[in-house]
Amino acid sequence: MSQKKDNLIVVLDIGSAYTRVLAADLNEGALRFRGYGMVESAGMRKGLISELGPAVKAVKAANEKAERAARVNIDHCVVGVGGPHIRGLNTNGGIGLGNRMREIDKEDVRNAVERARAVERPPDREILHLLPRQFILDEQPGIFDPVGLVGVRLEVDLHIATCSGSALQSTVTCANRAGLEVSEAVLESIAAAEATLSADERELGVCLLNIGAHSSDLAVFFEGAVAYTASVPIGGQHFTNDLAVGLQMPVAQAEELKRQYGNAVVTAVPQQAVIEIANPQPGAAATLSLRTVAEILEPRARELLYFVKESLRQGGVVEALGAGCVLTGGGAMLPGMLDITESQLRVPARTGMPVRLSHMPGELVHPGFATAIGMLLYVHRTRVTRAAENNSLRTRLHAIFAASF
Ligand SMILES: Nc1ncnc2c1ncn2[C@@H]1O[C@H](COP(=O)(O)OP(=O)(O)OP(=O)(O)O)[C@@H](O)[C@H]1O
Ligand SMILES: [Mg+2]
Repeated sequence: MSQKKDNLIVVLDIGSAYTRVLAADLNEGALRFRGYGMVESAGMRKGLISELGPAVKAVKAANEKAERAARVNIDHCVVGVGGPHIRGLNTNGGIGLGNRMREIDKEDVRNAVERARAVERPPDREILHLLPRQFILDEQPGIFDPVGLVGVRLEVDLHIATCSGSALQSTVTCANRAGLEVSEAVLESIAAAEATLSADERELGVCLLNIGAHSSDLAVFFEGAVAYTASVPIGGQHFTNDLAVGLQMPVAQAEELKRQYGNAVVTAVPQQAVIEIANPQPGAAATLSLRTVAEILEPRARELLYFVKESLRQGGVVEALGAGCVLTGGGAMLPGMLDITESQLRVPARTGMPVRLSHMPGELVHPGFATAIGMLLYVHRTRVTRAAENNSLRTRLHAIFAASF
């Protein structure tokens, strides 16, 4: 296997249904897909790692597949964090720049952000991202990048995305035990947004809703910045379990039924649509009306979107969705989800297919891969930004040293 991995970016998404490892590298400045591994997750409960042994095994298996596909040894990764323990918080803080107007530098921006983040946090909360929503310079709001502008007071409206410290630690421990060092953690809904949203949508206001297996994570963008992040405790697995209970069939069969014939809108299913059941339970009917299936799925879909709406209302962003709602995650594949979203939230909805990276196989253009592909894009973008900052610092230091000799 090739050992050359300076430019390698590897992401690990331990979902409640699937564990995914994706590898890409930088080829002449552009992201080039190298390979991936996906296996069914194990040791997960309610979106959290509940048993380390099986979860580690799944990560190892996914990683080995990715190594074979990418022809490289993988020993480090960036992990995704999502699930019901995600909380977002909006804060504000600022600094005085002195008595006379002066130019703002990066240090001032850092200090203003430090002030805004200095809020009381429950002890078990870890900060995942500090996301400036806007800067306010001498009471003038709406500033994205204040570096180089002049003023006497700089304030920032900040969104702080946090997660449970123990959940993050379990994810890191799981990756470590599978032989992977973790360099960074990324909020999964922010990552999924990276792979699916346009700049216009972020500007006009949009809700990214990632419907996973055990929970659905949301991130709202408004005026180009993150305005709200949250999670609701319903995902695709709840739909499957409802079918298994309601139709008295094994969970695996209910999952298959949902994927092949499920619809979240009863009236979209023809009244006479019927399928045969391969091995009916003793005493159960040998045929099944697809309307009956939809009658079980629709209330769950409505409940999910009701929780989403309540969450958006709590966050004060229900009116901010000018560009509507974008659904990602495997749960977005259920026909009818867009209609239910549109009717519950009263905004347009579309499915978020991830962008296709160069050399990426077609099967990854699926909403279930939006998070992992978005993580690759996020890591790439932040590395490019950091490299540019370091370069400009190096150039400035160069200039200082050149001037002093
Ligand atoms: N074609 C389909 N129709 C309906 N549901 C589907 C389809 N394909 C996948 N799903 C559902 O998507 C869910 C898995 O989605 P995804 O792969 O995004 O989850 P995950 O990332 O493992 O979980 P999470 O993000 O909650 O940790 C499962 O509940 C599955 O039933
Ligand atoms: Mg997921």
